[in-house]
Amino acid sequence: MTRESTLSIRRCAKDDWEDLRTIRLEALADTPDAYGSTYEESVRWSNAQWKNAASTRLYYLADRDGRVVGMVSGGYNEAYPGTRWLYGMYVTPRERGTGTAALLVRTIGEWARSHGVSEVYLHVTTSVPRARAFYEKVGFRPTGESFEMYRDQSLTLITMVQRLD
Ligand SMILES: CC(C)(COP(=O)(O)OP(=O)(O)OC[C@H]1O[C@@H](n2cnc3c(N)ncnc32)[C@H](O)[C@@H]1OP(=O)(O)O)[C@@H](O)C(=O)NCCC(=O)NCCS
Repeated sequence: MTRESTLSIRRCAKDDWEDLRTIRLEALADTPDAYGSTYEESVRWSNAQWKNAASTRLYYLADRDGRVVGMVSGGYNEAYPGTRWLYGMYVTPRERGTGTAALLVRTIGEWARSHGVSEVYLHVTTSVPRARAFYEKVGFRPTGESFEMYRDQSLTLITMVQRLD
């Protein structure tokens, strides 16, 4: 008899800091180009820093059968007043193509809608074509804006926006 697999998404709380660290460090090691921070700087964070991040920033964790398999963050961007942004998107390789990533995007859309906005923005690096294709598939469109990534000017970021229903 095979047991049914269970996927859940939960808002990250202080007690989830070890899961947050696990999946964030995995993301930074797996796809370094995709993120504004690096594995090398994040691996040096203290437990207190992870606990602080887990409890003060807005993260959602995807859990499959008790194991963290993905994450996403929602937040603001001072350069674009009044907007809501999707950051830190990641699903572990075995979870790709399953719909978990789309569920994480939907979760950020619900959070943004609860703030009274009708759009979600993100930046994506042009060197991660799978991410770009995924965002297009779930309804994000390029705004036309592009620029160099602050920490590595060899990388180009584009801005995408998703209109919420
Ligand atoms: C980006 C990410 C969250 C998307 O989740 P996912 O489960 O892989 O996404 P999906 O499989 O649903 O969609 C990806 C699409 O890209 C396509 N694709 C796969 N590899 C591709 C490539 N090299 N180039 C272009 N498209 C590609 C897939 O065919 C799929 O489209 P389809 O469903 O129409 O066939 C996940 O791949 C990931 O975590 N990647 C590493 C981290 C990352 O890049 N994060 C983005 C930060 S901005």
